[in-house]
Amino acid sequence: MPEMIVYDENKKTFSLHTARTTYQFMIDRFGVLLHLYYGPKAQGNMEFLLTYADRGNSGNIYDAGNLREYSYDQLPQEYPVSGMGDYRTPAFVLKNADGSIAADLRYRSHEIKKGKYGLSGLPAVYADEAEAASLSVELYDEAAKISVTLLYGVLYENDIITRSVIVKNEGEDRLYLNRTLSANLDFVTGKYDLVTFYGRHAMERKFQREHAVHGAKVIGSRRGHSSHQYNPMMLLCERTTTERSGICYSMQFVYSGGFTGVCERDGYDQTRWQLGLSDEKFSYPLDADETFIAPEVILSCSGEGFSLLSQNLHACIRKHIVRGEYRDAIRPVLLNSWEAYYFSFTGEDLLSLADQAKDLGMDMLVMDDGWFGARDDDKRGLGDWVVNEKKLGGTLGGFIEKINAKGLKFGIWIEPEMVNEDSGLYRAHPDWALCIPGRKPIRGRSQLVLDFSRKEVRDHIFSMICEVLDAGNIEYVKWDYNRSIADVYSHDTEDQGRVLYDYILGLYEFLEKMRTRYPHILIEGCAGGGGRFDAGMLYYTPQIWTSDNTDAIDRLRIQYGTSFGYPLSAMGAHVSAVPNEMNARITPLRTRSIVAMAGTYGYEMDPKKLSEEERDEIRREVATFKKYAPLIHNGTYYRLSDPFSDDYTAWMVVSEDKTEALLSAVITNARCNPLPHYVRLAGLREHALYHNESVGEDYASDALMTVGIPLPNIMNQYAAYQFYFKIKE
Ligand code: GLA
Repeated sequence: MPEMIVYDENKKTFSLHTARTTYQFMIDRFGVLLHLYYGPKAQGNMEFLLTYADRGNSGNIYDAGNLREYSYDQLPQEYPVSGMGDYRTPAFVLKNADGSIAADLRYRSHEIKKGKYGLSGLPAVYADEAEAASLSVELYDEAAKISVTLLYGVLYENDIITRSVIVKNEGEDRLYLNRTLSANLDFVTGKYDLVTFYGRHAMERKFQREHAVHGAKVIGSRRGHSSHQYNPMMLLCERTTTERSGICYSMQFVYSGGFTGVCERDGYDQTRWQLGLSDEKFSYPLDADETFIAPEVILSCSGEGFSLLSQNLHACIRKHIVRGEYRDAIRPVLLNSWEAYYFSFTGEDLLSLADQAKDLGMDMLVMDDGWFGARDDDKRGLGDWVVNEKKLGGTLGGFIEKINAKGLKFGIWIEPEMVNEDSGLYRAHPDWALCIPGRKPIRGRSQLVLDFSRKEVRDHIFSMICEVLDAGNIEYVKWDYNRSIADVYSHDTEDQGRVLYDYILGLYEFLEKMRTRYPHILIEGCAGGGGRFDAGMLYYTPQIWTSDNTDAIDRLRIQYGTSFGYPLSAMGAHVSAVPNEMNARITPLRTRSIVAMAGTYGYEMDPKKLSEEERDEIRREVATFKKYAPLIHNGTYYRLSDPFSDDYTAWMVVSEDKTEALLSAVITNARCNPLPHYVRLAGLREHALYHNESVGEDYASDALMTVGIPLPNIMNQYAAYQFYFKIKE
């Protein structure tokens, strides 16, 4: 393995090398870090990219004397601060003991190590010593007596560079961190597009590409969770970048709370790009010797378009974020009770659902919301994690045994962070809910948020949840979170500016304890669908329910957007009944199934309501998924269309050795007398023949990749196709 991190003592430059990219920055003559380059692999020193000019109204640091060409307002910064004469958006804002807002960070030391650093209490990319290297560069502010250490992790194979920041108060006085972003990238020139993933409940992660124009474009979440509104992931690309060509970059936050993402183009046509913690309601106190850790950001760069960029991120998440036995294992095909019964079910209902699941070849029954306390609707019961034996017709343990006796696994739904006012827990501990004294709390879905920044609260809920999980052979947990945080106040601290961050640390501590105690349980994250779909959660929960929207056609766009940063194995996707519960759309079963196969695959309906022919079809679909699951979850993924402008949506996965490929396509806009749709494949072995098992014919890979395969001529609305190709050796 070539050297991943090189420090040039003469030129004082740090070069970070991955298989196909290079990242470089330097310590300048005044000890400030200047960013030099991030892009496709490059050799040598790139200090020549810096230009100097006397710019009107730009500040010059004191050490520069009368050198007016020397201004941080124009030089590309590695970690820009407020207070050094750079008037663009800062990454770091420090409130000093005297109340002033200023920081002056200069190089003090650095260290290069084998392997990937970890972050105490926070999720982070992990890797073997041979796969990764880490660099830490310590900066110091003499006046504030604070050290700021920039961390870099390099994963060679997948072109991944990670960043994080650790701040330490080395003085005596209390300081406040008013903004501590995790990553900043300054580009000295270039015209870019910014890609963000916006949305709302049931319509998450819609792809939006726009020019990065002058001014600052800011996205983020101030909701206490990463949110349905914006995903904590952004792309920056050249204006000509496509799926298969052009330079592009990604930033992805390994954190599940509020965040801010900024793309700012300044008057000199330079672009600054940032990601990190939201500074709304954030003012983190640091006393003597205390440290603060900013969550990690995953960066990647591709010189060959978005496909490779996404593939880098997929590999990183699959192999270096997701942990435990389900990292590599194929996930069970499950039948979830939610859309079949919502809150009104009995044990008998669920047992008959289990019979259906078994009969149709599925692996697991999941009992969703409604099994505990007085939870007969969404207005009561949260917090009372005690099984409703009357509803279930016996103990949970006995019920699970019956499910297991049918040859099925059993999974359960929980929402540990929440409480209803109408619950035993709230009546006993009203102060455990986040609420500002003297004010009425904001309700969301008739519930309040428990103060997970408090250990006492977490420990109590943990022991209740453990009692449930100890009741029987539970092999899957759906961890839900169904509202945003509004009332930020904790009884445990005088510094309310740390509560939202401490809340997420508390959540992670809980999840870590849970996965350590129950290593065999597969946890699926969920937040009213995809309201907390981020790399932070994936460190604890190998898969996340992508959206409450199970309509196959809407899902095409939601899954398309999600696929830019997250692998198919992370995307919870189910087949549900038609007309769809949310939008009344009717789509063929085959179509719903093919769309759910671009995810973890499961069902969310009552199969008893179907005809025997339909049940037969489900049997075939489940068997088909099981046949292709290893290819789908381990393969290399390609988007083959634009679901917002094309009349069809197509995608494919190719096995690592390129001997197999699975192509899927759905007609989303049928036309009379339609044009043929040629779907251009990607990632196949060149100059090879592939046998299309689905139609029994051979195809030249080069023609498939340069012209495409015409979709069959029956292009009715919502028709779907799936072709399995095997190479002919
Ligand atoms: C959320 C989830 C759903 C379901 C309900 C239960 O909305 O996203 O899948 O579990 O909660 O209340």
